Amino acid sequence: MCGIVGYTGCKKAAPILMKGLQKLEYRGYDSAGIAVGRDHKIDVIKKEGKLDKLKEKLKSSMLEGKTGIGHTRWATHGRPSDRNSHPHFDEKQQFIVVHNGIIENYQELKEELKNKGYQFSSETDTEVIPHLLSEYYNGDLRDAILKVVEKLVGSYALAVMYSREPERIFAVRQDSPLVVGRGAEGENYIASDIPAFLEFTDDFYILDDGEIAEVSAGEINIFNSSGQQINKDIFEVDWDAEMAEKNGYSHYMLKEIHEQPDALRKIMKNRVSPGKIDLTEIAFPERIDDIQIVACGTASYAGRVGKYVLEELTRIPVQVNIASEFRYSDPILGENTLVIVVSQSGETADTLAGLRLAQKKGARVLALTNVVGSSIDREADQVLYLRAGPEIAVASTKAYSAMVTSFYMLGLFLGKQEGIISESKGKEMLQNLLCLPELASRVIEENEKTVKHLADRFQNCEHAFFIGRNTDYSLALEGALKLKEISYIHAEAYAAGELKHGTLALVEEGVPVVAIATRKGILDKMMSNIKEVKARGAEVIAVTYSDVKNVAEEADYIINIPEIEGIFSGVLTIIPLQLMAYYTALKRGCNVDQPRNLAKSVTVE
Ligand code: G6P
Repeated sequence: MCGIVGYTGCKKAAPILMKGLQKLEYRGYDSAGIAVGRDHKIDVIKKEGKLDKLKEKLKSSMLEGKTGIGHTRWATHGRPSDRNSHPHFDEKQQFIVVHNGIIENYQELKEELKNKGYQFSSETDTEVIPHLLSEYYNGDLRDAILKVVEKLVGSYALAVMYSREPERIFAVRQDSPLVVGRGAEGENYIASDIPAFLEFTDDFYILDDGEIAEVSAGEINIFNSSGQQINKDIFEVDWDAEMAEKNGYSHYMLKEIHEQPDALRKIMKNRVSPGKIDLTEIAFPERIDDIQIVACGTASYAGRVGKYVLEELTRIPVQVNIASEFRYSDPILGENTLVIVVSQSGETADTLAGLRLAQKKGARVLALTNVVGSSIDREADQVLYLRAGPEIAVASTKAYSAMVTSFYMLGLFLGKQEGIISESKGKEMLQNLLCLPELASRVIEENEKTVKHLADRFQNCEHAFFIGRNTDYSLALEGALKLKEISYIHAEAYAAGELKHGTLALVEEGVPVVAIATRKGILDKMMSNIKEVKARGAEVIAVTYSDVKNVAEEADYIINIPEIEGIFSGVLTIIPLQLMAYYTALKRGCNVDQPRNLAKSVTVE
């Protein structure tokens, strides 16, 4: 959802900015640009398309300056083009701005500025900002920025430079993430997200809404929205740069799929041991009458697994809400409602708004997030960290498995606490949980060949269906999402029993149907659904256990997962579906890590 970077120091800024942008390309990749200051002048280079195009253009330009800002864009206002790419200048080319977010009142501001004679050269909402800076500047840039942001309605993370002081960057935020990195002596950074400059520093200031940072090579000063200087704690990151690299894999997505066994180990470390689950890091409300899960995309599908898991293990009623709907509804939240927001990035705008609404209505919010220091981390009442390490590919894989595993942990912990799970049953279930990392490794090893073959077979199909019941239905939703987001094949997930009420009409000769059949109590029902689609000519790919013979006999292709207690099959089931999506996208020549029109961190509505 746009990435912004800034560097000031003793080295040439352009290559460092490009490195930072490369790490943030997952946030948007339809155009990019950088601005570098020197001798009372700011040089700007921008280009429509992926970062490589900008890199190409940079080869023929001499950007010598040692302070600069950069942007990688995910278009919201104005189609991707050189003209609409950031950074944006005012008319006199004095103030330059990069922006992540949306200025909701830009039309109104643009009209006002036009009436004063300002001329616009792009279709973006952002361009009002440099013009406003030029309007309000009266000798003090910080002061001008504070005046300008007062006029803005919407969300923004901004980096601003001024040609007369080309060695300073100002950074300010409201509802969009922004961090300031403290580098080795004489070098500092700003970025939308920590991985941008992990190579250079582990020390970051995480700006809060309304705060403004003045960053030069020698110092970082941070002020509140009234202009008073404040002291902020340094946040020391324990991810290292290597974790955010591909490490020999051809794509981040493939690397992240393979990292899942390890991610599962990490999330359970010091929380799950034989016979014991310890989540005392969370202060749960004394009484929980109901649970509302709020999330977007893959996180919401993890939430759907969570609903079945929590209801089965705790007998507390659970509802799953898509955050963009929840935030504009009037949810009924009692003082004994626990709201669980789920977000890999911790920055998804709709999920954050859902969190704020829940708190406003008096509910307590528990966040499941992967990013320490993110907005959701800081605003939630309680946090359970996913500990999955940086996830770079736009399509989420290891964070999803960590989310599902957190629901297993929450279910077991609360189920025991509520007296629903007996001591002996609890022990057995914990054993299942502890086996997951090992079994996940086996699933990867044993299925990579099969899924490659399936990718080969189905790479040219136009439609695919995913069916399942109970948790298997939730997994079908995530499996279908993975396939459609990276391979662009139309994939629909259906509750298997619901198929006959409409979607069955679309099943015809040769259409692939992925049938997930891991819930033992309802296997017969799945068998009937498999027969229904087979009778209409579908080619069935069954995901099931090796001992489920009748499913194996009926299906055309089998993906076997190791036997595990029903509710815990989720993580094992999703891995082959992630791999199938990956290899299908690869065969179709798609950009696996950066699918068209999407972005990893959706910080706008
Ligand atoms: C985007 C990403 C998805 C992600 C969703 C929610 O759509 O492409 O992969 O699941 O946002 O993101 P979050 O960071 O809140 O989990």
